[in-house]
Amino acid sequence: MNIPGENFRTIWPHPEDPRVVRIIDQRQLPHRYVVCDLATHQDGARAIRDMMVRGAPLIGATAAWSLYLAALEAERTAKSRQARLDFILEAAETLNATRPTAVNLRWAIERMLDVIRGTDDADSLTERLRREAAAICDEDVAISRAIGEHGVELIAAIAERNGGNPVNILTHCNAGSLATINWGTATAPIYIAHERGIPIHVWVDETRPRNQGSQLTAWELARSGIAHTVIVDNAGGHLMQHGQVDLCITGTDRTTRSGDVANKIGTYLKALAARDSDVPFYVALPSTTIDWTISDGVREIPIEERGGEEVSHITGLDGEVVRTVRAIAEDSPVANFAFDVTPARLVTGLITERGICAASEEGIAGLFPERAGAVA
Ligand code: MRU
Repeated sequence: MNIPGENFRTIWPHPEDPRVVRIIDQRQLPHRYVVCDLATHQDGARAIRDMMVRGAPLIGATAAWSLYLAALEAERTAKSRQARLDFILEAAETLNATRPTAVNLRWAIERMLDVIRGTDDADSLTERLRREAAAICDEDVAISRAIGEHGVELIAAIAERNGGNPVNILTHCNAGSLATINWGTATAPIYIAHERGIPIHVWVDETRPRNQGSQLTAWELARSGIAHTVIVDNAGGHLMQHGQVDLCITGTDRTTRSGDVANKIGTYLKALAARDSDVPFYVALPSTTIDWTISDGVREIPIEERGGEEVSHITGLDGEVVRTVRAIAEDSPVANFAFDVTPARLVTGLITERGICAASEEGIAGLFPERAGAVA
């Protein structure tokens, strides 16, 4: 399998059955590659909640396809146009409640609901929703690729200074192909650098508790033939102090209009370490991740808290069998904050599909004047 190759997708309509959408069950990686079918919007909601799919853009795309599935369900069960619409609206609420931090979820659901608002013809509604979900995915691929084309310039500039030595890039969590439809956000510049023959090496934070770095990012990079090393989450500061990191690039689940970024727990600590060691810290994002309604990320971005078993237990391969074992004594309470917010002042720049800008209200508005103006 070629990742991010032209044919790779993380979600796609079943080629023979239009009532089914397919996903990769990311909980099983890197040990097993399992494709699952979604046949109802509840399947889609479960896939997001249980993190079979994850990563801000993919969460949004899965919600979009789930609303198409809801429209099919409504065709089968509801008699009147109003009953069908009510069913889809209820499905939208269910999907909206699955995960709180990534704003792409709300964005994709709103975009699908706009399709409903824009048509009176109940018969063509399902087909319109199918086309919109497909368009969201196609656009996401193009956006990720554009992020890569802009971000690769940063890597190329460092490579020139490095005189042929590999550019060392540190990333956190998985903002890779698996978090989007293809290419990823933080990984897109890395993949394009590799395509262009720029020597690179990636430090992959393991990203406890769910290990999206060691389980997903490392898996992707290995499949692409990109040199990488998995490190424990606490190693990044040490590497930066010793000149072993040229550049940090992470993704984000929600970016405020002033450039604060919410991303996987631990991102903030990396940004602090990067600042102390003068390592550039960039965040790659599609504009669908910008929440234009808020400015103060620390106060205004809802931070998901997940079940304690993700902290108290660890899953791995034992011979041929995947096992989950308790890693923390039963009488110790645990807490599981899934995201943190890195204030804009610690972010060197934002890599978007329209170019690179300062992590500031002016910087973002300069690239997206039509959106910034709409909410001012
Ligand atoms: O909890 P997850 O795995 O959904 O968290 C994912 C991240 O934190 C990613 O960095 C973020 O969604 C950006 S994806 C391009």
